[in-house]
Amino acid sequence: MAAALDIKGLKVSYGNIQALRGVDLTVEEGEIVTLIGANGAGKSTLMNTVAGLVRTREGAIHHYEEDITGMDTRELVKRGIILAPEGRQIFPDLSVKDNLLMGGYLRSDKENDETMKTVFELFPILEERQNQMGLTLSGGEQQMLAIGRALMAGPKLLLLDEPSLGLAPIIVSNLFKLIKRIRDMGVTILLVEQNARIALKTADRAYVLESGRIVAADRADVLLKSDLIEKSYLGKS
Ligand SMILES: Nc1ncnc2c1ncn2[C@@H]1O[C@H](COP(=O)(O)OP(=O)(O)OP(=O)(O)O)[C@@H](O)[C@H]1O
Ligand SMILES: [Mg+2]
Repeated sequence: MAAALDIKGLKVSYGNIQALRGVDLTVEEGEIVTLIGANGAGKSTLMNTVAGLVRTREGAIHHYEEDITGMDTRELVKRGIILAPEGRQIFPDLSVKDNLLMGGYLRSDKENDETMKTVFELFPILEERQNQMGLTLSGGEQQMLAIGRALMAGPKLLLLDEPSLGLAPIIVSNLFKLIKRIRDMGVTILLVEQNARIALKTADRAYVLESGRIVAADRADVLLKSDLIEKSYLGKS
């Protein structure tokens, strides 16, 4: 079967800045694949390009058999390709419940009712806080809301950009357990992380991006033990 996501020779520039210099990456259905790399490596650029927010200069992106290169975000959302962007970007003046409903804007009331039940099962705190304004949530709760909102769109391919950013270690570890549960519910996941250790422990396969190029790709458990990762991304512990 064709891959849920198949990126070939992807090049993206912002004016003179070349952010991606020919990236190949695949995600098979049911996998968690992680993309790790330092600040400015081009991770968010790749995610935003797949989600239709940034223009491809060269290369192609396929979703199963379909060429989705340059497709509108709305069309991508209809196909179940959903981005939970870096930095949460929740709506501070809307209630938690309304934030979630924004994620389901293309779906029926019935679908939204059902999915909201699932989101509340995964993140019980969001049910407790459903009538509070988004801005009153803690950082970790806002991150859960951002993921919950992405789930409300009914993802088949979920793009998670740095879900652990700014969260305490105990919250991060719970969050990654939930990410696995989301995969077990039938969602394919591409996960961008700077926290290489937990990302590699969670994912099936991994890619390492440096200055817009893939410099390593392997099974996550293999990369976790490799010298390159150890030196550059894991520190000494
Ligand atoms: N809108 C933009 N305009 C101009 N340059 C940009 C823009 N967005 C990103 N860049 C540049 O493209 C490169 C890749 O940025 P990107 O945000 O994709 O990196 P990243 O790997 O997600 O980094 P981080 O880990 O800090 O989130 C960087 O050099 C960045 O400065
Ligand atoms: Mg980024």
